[in-house]
Amino acid sequence: MNVLVTAGPTREAIDPVRFVSNRSSGRMGYALAAAARRAGHAVRLVSGPVALDPPPGVRLVRVVSAADMLAAVEQNLPWCDLLVMAAAVADWRPKHPAAHKLKKADGPPVIEWEPAPDILAAIAPRKKSSQVFCGFAAETRALAREAKRKLREKHLDVIAANDVSRSDRGFDSDRNELAVFFAGGPVRRIPLARKSVCAARLISWLEKIAAKKK
Ligand code: PMT
Repeated sequence: MNVLVTAGPTREAIDPVRFVSNRSSGRMGYALAAAARRAGHAVRLVSGPVALDPPPGVRLVRVVSAADMLAAVEQNLPWCDLLVMAAAVADWRPKHPAAHKLKKADGPPVIEWEPAPDILAAIAPRKKSSQVFCGFAAETRALAREAKRKLREKHLDVIAANDVSRSDRGFDSDRNELAVFFAGGPVRRIPLARKSVCAARLISWLEKIAAKKK
């Protein structure tokens, strides 16, 4: 199977030296790419800026912004049987990034924001019936309700929800705990474990869904 994984944060420019981003370390996405490769799949990993080495045997595509990530996902979409969107993509970006460094003497900048591209929304119309799309939901409250909403609104087959309000799991941790929601199906839980363990279990479930669609 051909597996496309996204990982890490995106960065949205404010000026040539400043950006807005988030706390994603890339560890969850890199663990998923490594697990898929270990399971014998061909893997491409689209990654925002992180301090990790790519897993052996995985083709890495480096990106910076949400727009870059959208372009890389679109380019690799026809190739993939399974897409796993573990990246923490920006929802908002500065509408007019400054061409030159903003000067402190000019006072606090007033930044006008616009929506960053929603990658899953943009690619949904091009989804083939044989493809499996799995998203992630990063939540600090109402985990199940928000995950189910995103599963439906983003036309996903599966969404893995994680609590990102705690320091021992989720963002920038070696461990995670996932509640995995399947379209029209049950919820399955992966208890707190190393991200490599969570990733191997999730990939094994996604393999079964992909096999049913063949
Ligand atoms: O990188 P780590 O430090 O290991 O942390 C892992 C993680 C917490 C980042 C990861 O497990 C995770 O939850 N990733 C998804 C983060 C996120 O953006 O969640 P969201 O609920 O805002 O988005 C829902 C889905 O839509 C995600 O699959 C996301 O990739 C996608 N999305 C979001 C925004 C956007 N503009 N386009 C998108 O496609």
